[in-house]
Amino acid sequence: MTKNSDDRMWGGRFQEQTDAFVQAFTASVEFDQRLAMADIEGSFAHAKMLQKIGVLSGDELAQIESGLSTIEQEIENGTFEWSVALEDVHMNIEARLTALIGDAGKKLHTGRSRNDQVATDIRLYLREQIQLCQHFIREFQTGLLQLAEQHADTILPGFTHLQVAQPITFGHHLLAWFEMLERDHGRLVGCVKRMNILPLGTAALAGTSYPLDREYSAELLGFSAPSRNSLDAVSDRDFAIEFCADAAIIMTHLSRMAEELIIWSTAQFDFIVLPDRYCTGSSIMPQKKNPDVPELVRGKSGRVFGHLMSLLALMKSQPLAYNKDNQEDKEPLFDTLDTLQGSLCAFADMVPNLQVKKDNMYQAAKRGFATATDLADYLVNKGMPFRDAHEVVGSAVAYAIEHDKDLSECTLDEMKAFDDCIEEDVFDVLTLEGSVSARNIIGGTAPEQVRFQISECRKLIATED
Ligand code: ARG
Repeated sequence: MTKNSDDRMWGGRFQEQTDAFVQAFTASVEFDQRLAMADIEGSFAHAKMLQKIGVLSGDELAQIESGLSTIEQEIENGTFEWSVALEDVHMNIEARLTALIGDAGKKLHTGRSRNDQVATDIRLYLREQIQLCQHFIREFQTGLLQLAEQHADTILPGFTHLQVAQPITFGHHLLAWFEMLERDHGRLVGCVKRMNILPLGTAALAGTSYPLDREYSAELLGFSAPSRNSLDAVSDRDFAIEFCADAAIIMTHLSRMAEELIIWSTAQFDFIVLPDRYCTGSSIMPQKKNPDVPELVRGKSGRVFGHLMSLLALMKSQPLAYNKDNQEDKEPLFDTLDTLQGSLCAFADMVPNLQVKKDNMYQAAKRGFATATDLADYLVNKGMPFRDAHEVVGSAVAYAIEHDKDLSECTLDEMKAFDDCIEEDVFDVLTLEGSVSARNIIGGTAPEQVRFQISECRKLIATED
């Protein structure tokens, strides 16, 4: 980074140099460089519009376009010289444009302020980055559906309070994850819809006296409309807050999945094996294979929550319109994007490539009296009120615990001692297969239902995009 002490583009009214510390303290170019391509895209459109309304000649527009293309190249090649003295990405690019093409470059800022410029740039940038997040979500969902299909019949214990509750199918469990991601995707769609309004042309805060064609600019940049209120357009960062809130929810979901993956890969559960490429070993314990990626994603969720808090606190109590506080929106936003995209990308590949240990899942479901509810339902079918059935099964479980066996391992005589109405057919409902197949209701865990839901989910993600 070069140091350049009097490149100030607003130096006219100042008699004293900016303090070197203040210059560095107020500069954002170190991090807002990330907006460079969005800034140039916005400038192309602004210049085109200025030519349309007669502020620029055709020749000036051509010069600006060629200058902006050169700058694009320089940034891509890494030869662009960023200057802290020029404070931010906007003034760096504008100064370079003027250096390249002379007076025509100075006309580009007509009817524009950095306030509407930055509000536009962040939207352009974020809009594109959200698309990438959505792409990873879709990829992850597609992988989940494939795995769910392979495991529509695989039985494992379902838990409440992390205690064995009832047998479920693994496909059903994976479809629960699919649903979380489906709502996450939908939230991002809504976020983009609200964000996709163009601030450019609102200038510093009050609009501009030039007869800008804002509808044309909006069309060129793919926004659904120009903003209706200039004060609001240049100042609010609610769209960034909304995205970070959506990201925080996604990270919450990923952290829940991470937690299950971590538990399932312990020696005690041993339900799954994570792909080696997502784990590391220990420098001292040769036997260790640690679930690093799920653990990191679980940990990284905290930092995204933190960014959401930063942005809320940043925006809180800001009077209209633009305040320099808003320059602080970028780092939390960028880090949220990096963290979210990395986490989604890792999960989209890691989860569909899990090795599933069906036998261990099955054996675990057999322990813990997972079919006790089925026995109660059986008694209800025989005419017993549910509360009484609950009581009878409770004492049956106590008996089985005392004799160290599962309910399905009791003899018919032992069963009959719990209640007379129990007959041979009780053993049909006490099996794990019988239990899951009985739950063949919309949203239930039966293999038939899981297959049906998979086909519904496939339609959902195919039609929407
Ligand atoms: N770097 C500034 C930001 O990110 C650009 C807007 C500056 N506007 C101003 N009036 N100082 O917010």
